[in-house]
Amino acid sequence: MNNLKRLDPYEIRKDFPIFERKIRGKPLIYLDNAATTQKPRSVIESEKRFYEEINANIHRAVYTLSYEATVLYEEAHKKVADFIGAKSWREIVFTRNATESINLVAYGWGLRRLKEGDEVLLTIMEHHSNIVPWQMLRDLKGITLRFLDVDSEGRLDLDKLPNLLSEKTKLVSIIHASNVLGVINPVKYIINEAKKVGALVLVDAAQSIPHIPIDVGDLGCDFLVASGHKMLGPTGIGFLYGRSELLDSMDPFLYGGDMIETVTLDKATWNELPWKFEAGTPNIAGGIGLGVAIDYLNKIGLRNIAYMEKELLDHAFARFSDLPWIEVYGPKGDERIGVISFNIKGIHPHDIAGVLDEEGIAVRSGHHCAQPLMRRLGMDNAVRVSFYLYNTKEEVDRLVDVLREVKRVFGV
Ligand SMILES: Cc1ncc(COP(=O)(O)O)c(C=O)c1O
Repeated sequence: MNNLKRLDPYEIRKDFPIFERKIRGKPLIYLDNAATTQKPRSVIESEKRFYEEINANIHRAVYTLSYEATVLYEEAHKKVADFIGAKSWREIVFTRNATESINLVAYGWGLRRLKEGDEVLLTIMEHHSNIVPWQMLRDLKGITLRFLDVDSEGRLDLDKLPNLLSEKTKLVSIIHASNVLGVINPVKYIINEAKKVGALVLVDAAQSIPHIPIDVGDLGCDFLVASGHKMLGPTGIGFLYGRSELLDSMDPFLYGGDMIETVTLDKATWNELPWKFEAGTPNIAGGIGLGVAIDYLNKIGLRNIAYMEKELLDHAFARFSDLPWIEVYGPKGDERIGVISFNIKGIHPHDIAGVLDEEGIAVRSGHHCAQPLMRRLGMDNAVRVSFYLYNTKEEVDRLVDVLREVKRVFGV
C-alpha cells in the first residue's frame, strides 16, 4: 500500500447529507454511482453560497458580484484543467454533460471536417451518447462508422484493431471504462495505434474520471469528455477537453451571446477559448460546484479511492461466488472500476431492483444505455451495482443477503 491512505467510508459518509435519509425506514444503501454520485456537503454548500452571496452573471459587468462570479467560474475551469493535466484552462469547455461534449465535437469538428468515405471508429462497448451523435453524422455526411468488437467476456478485441484502422479513419472515439462491465480499456495503446494512421482520438471518461487518475498529456488524446455529476459534482455541468490548436480551428457548436468577439448585422467573429464554445449564460453555480467537487476528490486522493474500491470489489466478488445462481458479466480478474452487472436466471432485473428498493438498496436495472454491448453479450437487461468512496463491505453483505431473499421469494 505504498503511499496509499486507507480510507474510512464511515467517516467519508459524514460528508454526504443524503446518508441521513431513510428509505422505507431503512438506511439508504446507494449502489447506483455509475448513474450519478451523491454530493458532499461542500458541493451543496457551494451552490447555496453562490446564490445567497454572489449570484450575478459572468463576463458582462464591472460590478463586484459579477467580477467575483467570473473569477470563481474561471477558477473552476483551472481546477478541471489541473485535474486532468491539460496544458491550459482554455482547453476546458464547460458543457451540460458528457453527452453534450460529444455532440459539440460531432457538430463543431465533424460536421465541417468529415466527408463521404471518411471513417469514425467506435467500439460496441460505447454508451449510446458515443454512438448516436456519430450516426447522425453518418446520415448527414455519408461517413462510415466502424466498431471494434469485444470478446465473449467483454474485453475489447484488440487483435481486430489493425484491420479497422486506415488512412480513412479520421476519429477514434472510445469509452475509457465501461458503464456496464466496469472494464478499463487500454486507451493509451489504442491512441498510439490511432495516431499511426493520423486519426484524432476522443476519450469518453464519464465512468473512468471518478475512479482513475487521468493525464491527457500522458494519454495523448485529442479530446476527452466527462460529466460533473458522476464525480461528486452537480448535475447540469460537464466538460470537454480539447487540444487548444484543435479547439481554435473548430467551429462553434452553439451560437449567440458570449461566444462572440464582434457582431455586425452581416457577420460575427468568435470569442477566445473556451468562451467560443460556451454560448449564452452558462451553469455558473454548477461550474463552481464542479470545482469544489474536484477539491474534495483531490483531498481524498483518487488513488486512495481506487484502492478502496478494489477492496470492495474483491469482497463483492468473494461474496457473489457463494451465489452460484448469479451470472456476473465482464472479464474476471481484470482491473476494473467498481461496477458489477449481473442477472439471476428466471427473474427480471426490474423485479430484482424492486425488491432491493424495498430494503433501501438503490441499484440500476435495464439496458444501461449500452444496447449494442448488451446484445453482443446475449442479454437485454441486467442489474448493475456500482460503488464509490462511501460504500462499505457491510452494505455489500446486506446486498448479498437481500439477493438470497429475492431468489427465495421468486422461487427460482
Ligand atoms: C460511459 C458513459 N459515457 C457517457 C455517459 C453520458 O453521461 P451524461 O448522461 O451525464 O451525459 C454515461 C452515462 O452514464 C456513461 O456511462
